[in-house]
Amino acid sequence: MKQEILKGFIVIEGLDGSGTTTQLDNITSFLRNRNISHIRTFEPTDRETGLLIRKVLAGQIPLKQETIAYLFAADRNEHIFGEKNGIIELLKTNRYVISDRYHFSSIAYQSINSDPLLVEELNSRFPLPEFLIFVDVPVEECQRRINMRNGAVEIYDNIDYQRIVLENYNKAIGLFAESQMKVIRVNGTKSAEEVTGEIISAVFSD
Ligand code: TMP
Repeated sequence: MKQEILKGFIVIEGLDGSGTTTQLDNITSFLRNRNISHIRTFEPTDRETGLLIRKVLAGQIPLKQETIAYLFAADRNEHIFGEKNGIIELLKTNRYVISDRYHFSSIAYQSINSDPLLVEELNSRFPLPEFLIFVDVPVEECQRRINMRNGAVEIYDNIDYQRIVLENYNKAIGLFAESQMKVIRVNGTKSAEEVTGEIISAVFSD
């Protein structure tokens, strides 16, 4: 896969319960304290497409698995190329744009119940981030954290599914081994502060 790299674009990925949101909180407060211009963003987005996906994830709208893969790709297309607040646009005025999830999530999650080649194809034209941060946490630990949260259950909240998601993440990262994208894999079982420290020294050390 040969995809363009967007300098300053950073993506954080991990299983549900791996702590990506906490890491984003910590990274953005680090950048804010140093007056480094940045924008935090996420997928599914809070655009109309993303809101529709949230309903699907909550089990409110039953759709074919392929349709879900198309929806994530459609939401991503606006997220990256959108004229109003799209990532490419935001990078013109910000040093960093940091996204909680990107197309690696589609490859990891949607490839399970729909044709992996379709998912790859739908996502093959999106540019790559300069850095992909993967927060590595065993499936059992993620599940324990999710159970403690006691929030609304989503369609992918089950341990067997998550095991395959983790395998797929490894494959997804492998797909880009030849690219210039820098992959930072951190051990997410360490304390949140330690994990943040590792990410900061790998990504923002210059
Ligand atoms: P969140 O918990 O990080 O808000 O993500 C919502 C869920 O959506 C999570 O289970 C991962 C899933 N997801 C996909 O299945 N495919 C995708 O492309 C993205 C961005 C998220």
